[in-house]
Formats: sequence, C-alpha cells, structure tokens
Amino acid sequence: MQKDNILVIGACGQLGTELTFELMKVHGEDHVFACDIRKEKEVKHLFDTGIYRHLNVLDAKKLYAIITELKITQVYHLAAYLSASGERNPAAAWELNMDGLFNVLNAAKDLGLRKVYWPSSIAVFGPNTPPQSTPQNCVMDPNTVYGITKLAGERYSEYYNKRYGVDVRSLRYPGLIGWKSAPGGGTTDYAVTIYHEALLHKKFECFLKADTALPMLYMPDALRATIDIMEAPSEKIKIRSSYNLSGMSFTPKEVAMSIKKLIPEFKITYAPDYRQAIADSWPNSIDDKMAKKHWGWKPKFDLDKMTKDMLENLGRQYAMKK
Ligand code: SER
Repeated sequence: MQKDNILVIGACGQLGTELTFELMKVHGEDHVFACDIRKEKEVKHLFDTGIYRHLNVLDAKKLYAIITELKITQVYHLAAYLSASGERNPAAAWELNMDGLFNVLNAAKDLGLRKVYWPSSIAVFGPNTPPQSTPQNCVMDPNTVYGITKLAGERYSEYYNKRYGVDVRSLRYPGLIGWKSAPGGGTTDYAVTIYHEALLHKKFECFLKADTALPMLYMPDALRATIDIMEAPSEKIKIRSSYNLSGMSFTPKEVAMSIKKLIPEFKITYAPDYRQAIADSWPNSIDDKMAKKHWGWKPKFDLDKMTKDMLENLGRQYAMKK
C-alpha cells in the first residue's frame, strides 16, 4: 500500500513542534513535512530545510500547490490564534481561525486528502455550560473570539464530513503542558511558565486566582491522543465535530503544592488579569467518556507524575545551557 505523506500546518507552535517529530516515528522521516508562517531561515534550528515550507494558511493557492507538490494525503492543521492573543486581535483571530480552516477543508474536498486533523478546545464552552465533568453535548456559549471560531469550526468540520465525505477528526484540547516547546497566547499557559520559574527563580506570579480549576493535559498524552484518533479506523470516529478529551484538572494553588513537594522553597503569588474572566467562563473538568468508548482513549499522567517529569526534563535542559 502506498505510504501517506503528512503535512503539519503551524508546525512551529507548542504542539506542532513536538507532533511533527512524533509523526515521523509513525510514518517515517521522509513522509512528514512541516510548514508555518515563519520564514525558512528562522526555523533552521527546528526543521531540515528539505521538509519545511513557508506557508501562510490564508494563502489557499500556495496551500494547494504544496499539497500537490509533496503528494500530501493527510493534513494536521494546527495554525490558530489562541484565547488570550485572540482577545487582543479579534478580527485577525477570526480570519486566521476560520479562513485557515476553510482553506484546509476545501483542499481536502478538492484534492481528495485521505484525512484531516484539526484541534478544537475547551474554549467552545461558556458561562452557561455545566462546569463540572462537562459532557460532550450541552449548552455551548463561548464568549471569546477563539472559542467562537472553534465552535463554528466544529460545526463546519461535521458539515464537511457529512456533506462532502471529508474524513476530518478533532479533539477539544484542554490546556497543554510540555517542556520541549513554549505555549503562545493561551489562558492555560501559566501552567507551563510556572515550572520554568520554579526552577529559575523559585517563585512565580500567577495571572489567575489561586482556586481557578481548569482541565489540563500533559504533552505525551496529548500527542498519543492525537495520533491515536488519526490512526483509528474511520468507523470508530463517530463524532465528527470534536471529542471531549481529559487528562487532569487542577488549580494554580494545587500545581504550586505539587511543585513544593520537590522544590520546598517555591512560592506562588497571584495577580489576576484579563485572562481570569476567560478562565472563569471555561469548565473546571471534562467528561471524555465518548473518546474512551469510541477509540480507546486513556490518559497516563496525573498532576504529580507530570510535575516530576516536567522538573526533571526542564532541569536537565537548563543545566545543559549553563
Ligand atoms: N490552551 C488554550 C488556551 O488557553 C485552550 O485551548 O487558549
């Protein structure tokens, strides 16, 4: 059988950087290509020039040309404005998040892509959503431009699947936490920065209140979930909008306590800003039983296990830089 050729759009972002290399393990180094809005010379430290293409996903003509040139059969479309950066640039966020998705879905339809992956988010939920163990189907009234684009994107993904047969698959990511790459523009980003600051300065000022519980997922679990849903047989993917996905839920106070078990002198202070209102509109925890039932999702990391892994790996990375 002919091998798939994979294109990761938004490959320089927090998820893309790691996912591109994970996909190489599955599909082979010669079959995975990366593209992003950053110019070739800016990303030499990340990707070999041969596998990298400069692309603004709003440029549909260039997107189609790259897919054709590289004989791409699967696209992972990750480029988007996140919740906090979207609130600073609502019009640009709407344009990138919606028109970027349309370009990819249309390319899938017009060029016959085998599969498309596109992430949604817990940001599709809003103030009237049940906040504890939020179910797959419930009131969804997002009040950030990011959340609105993700909810509209979910509806369009399902529409393209039902109407045009596009095999699009999606997960509603909670906050993603990893040590290899930096997050950009999200409300959950504090849960990455806190580990860096714990190692570097033994203190951290949090932009959310102490008791703000949010759903989170450690990067190795997120990578596994993403590849598992894409590799599952099509008939198992019964939800074509996006699946609820859960790993753990914690507050800033709880993650600080988890860090203190390993760095006892660590101190956290709180200075909530505009991101508090965004966090307050999101669920505290997520019910992901559909993902478990349909395609066998199972998270491996809880808070303490993640803290240990984050601090060990980041500690090693900082020691090497000295
Ligand atoms: N991590 C994202 C954000 O905070 C949620 O999908 O915007």
